[in-house]
Amino acid sequence: MELQDDLLPKDIVAELNKYIVGQNDAKKAIAIAIRNRYRRMQLKEDELREEILPKNIIMIGPTGVGKTEIARRMAIILNAPFVKVEATKFTEIGYVGRNVETMVRDLVAESVRLVRKKKEEEVLQTAEKLAEEKIIFELLKKKKTLIKKFNLNEELEDVKNEFSLNKLLYEKLRKGELDDFYIEIDEPATLDAVSSIGMISATSDLEEINMNIKEMIDNLMTKRNKKRKLTVAKARKLFISQEIDKLLDMEEICEKALALAENGGIIFIDEIDKIISSGGESSGKGGPNVSREGVQRDILPIVEGTIVKTRYGTIKTDHILFIAAGAFSISKPSDLIPELQGRFPIRVELSSLKKDDFMKILNDTKNSLIKQYVALLKVENIKIEFMNSGIEKIAEFCDEVNKRNENIGARRLHTLLEKLLEDISFECDKYTGKTVKIDAKFVQKKLDKLIEDIDLSKYIL
Ligand SMILES: Nc1ncnc2c1ncn2[C@@H]1O[C@H](COP(=O)(O)OP(=O)(O)OP(=O)(O)O)[C@@H](O)[C@H]1O
Ligand SMILES: [Mg+2]
Repeated sequence: MELQDDLLPKDIVAELNKYIVGQNDAKKAIAIAIRNRYRRMQLKEDELREEILPKNIIMIGPTGVGKTEIARRMAIILNAPFVKVEATKFTEIGYVGRNVETMVRDLVAESVRLVRKKKEEEVLQTAEKLAEEKIIFELLKKKKTLIKKFNLNEELEDVKNEFSLNKLLYEKLRKGELDDFYIEIDEPATLDAVSSIGMISATSDLEEINMNIKEMIDNLMTKRNKKRKLTVAKARKLFISQEIDKLLDMEEICEKALALAENGGIIFIDEIDKIISSGGESSGKGGPNVSREGVQRDILPIVEGTIVKTRYGTIKTDHILFIAAGAFSISKPSDLIPELQGRFPIRVELSSLKKDDFMKILNDTKNSLIKQYVALLKVENIKIEFMNSGIEKIAEFCDEVNKRNENIGARRLHTLLEKLLEDISFECDKYTGKTVKIDAKFVQKKLDKLIEDIDLSKYIL
């Protein structure tokens, strides 16, 4: 699989613009970093290509201004393996918990998923054909019942002629006319075993144990076959997925996926400021601080370039792009251990949001909160119309409460809107069939008291 070559930096920014208001520096830096991966892969000189390391980015900005949101949107836009992790989820290697290497393993797993999906599309047609053949084979075992049930005699020139029966069955199968007919198939008893593997791998880090168990169970399973009755429609789905599995060359997929993750993978480390040890130098030893710094120290080799073993093979992390983000409200990027700071050469600041931004967030973003509320209440047959004056008032209040209480950025819009529409939302039956216009007066009436009363607004908004 290739890295996308049709996404120019400005296209990436344009795509992000659909969802995120402002924060142009961050968008630009990310767009350039992503394009650089593609540029690097086009280089013919191996030596030079190896030398070019990604310029990792650190995004700094107050709470609720779009850091995590940018990551979420990137994941959707990019056709490259991307994982988002929270720095606080990790514990120092040697302690109980998730160690930092799992982020690389998750990235590889994501890459395998992407490559596999592409390959699945490639073999789908073949798999469908093979599945069809298998179904016809099963159907022919029930020839008599079929002929009787579907009155095939009338349609067939010669019932004894296998060829014309086959042809007719194929026709009917493709038209879906046999979908509800039951056939009996052999099915290996895999379900329980597979789900228990899932459980183990979700909770533990010990990939090797995991692999051994899987092997063990694989051996067990092949010996226990069961008969199962199911409809043609369901059997078709099952056979297709079985045939896909058989057609896929997992070894090739893993190889490609590892290469893709190595050269195109992006790991987004959110909440990086939360693994800064509080209290600075005086904090001494012991307590949570030591382990936070331990996590930083563990992250270091991964960002710098190391080799990580995964169940799909080993991966070099040198060329993975890392993007970190944090609010840094009580700390600074320079409180990170110096080695780690040096590994994130590009720093971008996200600015706090003002009234105009809030208006744009409400008005212009795809799937904005307003659109969500309108759609939700439409289900109750209530027509909510947001007037411009109403939106402006909400944005104004948002700015005001953020200034007076704590500044929680665009998150404040969520609480404000929820309060604003609470009554309608609760007493929806009263409003059925009605249109509610939300203008400045409406907003004022609903929220004024709350906003006036500073103490109250601290609790409620
Ligand atoms: N610039 C923006 N444009 C559009 N929506 C935004 C913007 N900033 C924040 N939001 C909205 O506000 C909510 C919170 O934003 P987000 O999760 O990105 O905050 P954050 O910057 O990661 O803050 P924190 O440091 O607290 O994690 C999201 O639901 C998002 O939709
Ligand atoms: Mg966040």
